[in-house]
Amino acid sequence: MLWRGLLEEYKPYLPVTDKTPMLSLQEGNTPLLPLRHLSEKLGVELFVKYDGANPTGSFKDRGMVMAVAKAKESGSEAVMCASTGNTSAAAAAYAAQAKMRCMIVIPEGKIAMGKLAQAVVYGAEIVSIAGNFDNALQMVRNLEKQSPISLVNSVNPHRIEGQKTAAFEICDALGSAPDVLTIPVGNAGNITAYWKGFKEYHEAKQTGLPEMRGFEAEGAAAIVRKQIIEEPETLATAIRIGNPASWDKAVNAADESGGKIDEVTDDEIVAAYRLLAKEEGVFAEPASAASIAGLIKQIDSGEIKKGSRVVSVLTGNGLKDPDTAIDTAPVQPMKLPNNEKIVFDHLLGRVNA
Ligand code: F0G
Repeated sequence: MLWRGLLEEYKPYLPVTDKTPMLSLQEGNTPLLPLRHLSEKLGVELFVKYDGANPTGSFKDRGMVMAVAKAKESGSEAVMCASTGNTSAAAAAYAAQAKMRCMIVIPEGKIAMGKLAQAVVYGAEIVSIAGNFDNALQMVRNLEKQSPISLVNSVNPHRIEGQKTAAFEICDALGSAPDVLTIPVGNAGNITAYWKGFKEYHEAKQTGLPEMRGFEAEGAAAIVRKQIIEEPETLATAIRIGNPASWDKAVNAADESGGKIDEVTDDEIVAAYRLLAKEEGVFAEPASAASIAGLIKQIDSGEIKKGSRVVSVLTGNGLKDPDTAIDTAPVQPMKLPNNEKIVFDHLLGRVNA
């Protein structure tokens, strides 16, 4: 049967009314992929929730379809957000479908190229500031107080409602919640949403609850360090955030579930990013690989038990950030003349080597 998108499929669990415009780019219903090779290597039963398969290439579509629909329903004519890239791509896409203006504020030079390309083509009005995501978020929060423009960052509760559906899909696919969920943490909206989703589904269907294990990048690990980081730095630009808006809710999710908010280094992120692609054929963006880097770290430390059933959330598509892919690549294309003999010699020499 045709997948109808999240607002239709999960209507009873969402703030959908008779007046809600049923926006959809057929978001959701993303693969829950078993990773055979890494499961064997790591000694756990590992699945990834591949949310890079959403229509704009990240999990943000889940929250944005709900937030933009509610903004439209309330009579608003424009939406705005601060973003490290994915939120703005999703906001721009759903605003286009809803025939609304979309204004975005982004940190200059710290947005992956694919994400910027999306916002441009979807027709957003883009402001790039000489500041970071936290500065941009503060600006749009202040502007919301003095304008009728709807803010669609994850401080908007409708975003969390939409994003919790990923937890539902995992429980539906596995028949129950996994033992452990590992997830990247930036502004901390997604870990908040997953925990809400697991709890609601457990209440409705007794699906059980996972340990929630969230991972910040080391250079942006405000929650782990228990202090705001004024100048966050990480190659995983999606989670380059020093003052997460849903800080307390992330801590609560970890505490209530018997999990933890932890950090991973950029080197660990890149290693996991490459491992996923090379071992499993799965291309996720660097921030997403924080969930695999964290899994590996906590298996090594013994915090995640061997034999556990684990779901690691892959939040965004690898194609979002081609520059990091090329810059961190161990092999680059070999430039040769347009000559069969030279090309064959090179390729066969390699094969025989
Ligand atoms: N992974 C990706 C690919 C992201 O784009 C983000 C956040 C996260 C993880 C972290 O999720 O913020 O809910 O903890 N991106 C936001 C943006 C900040 O503007 O696109 P979170």
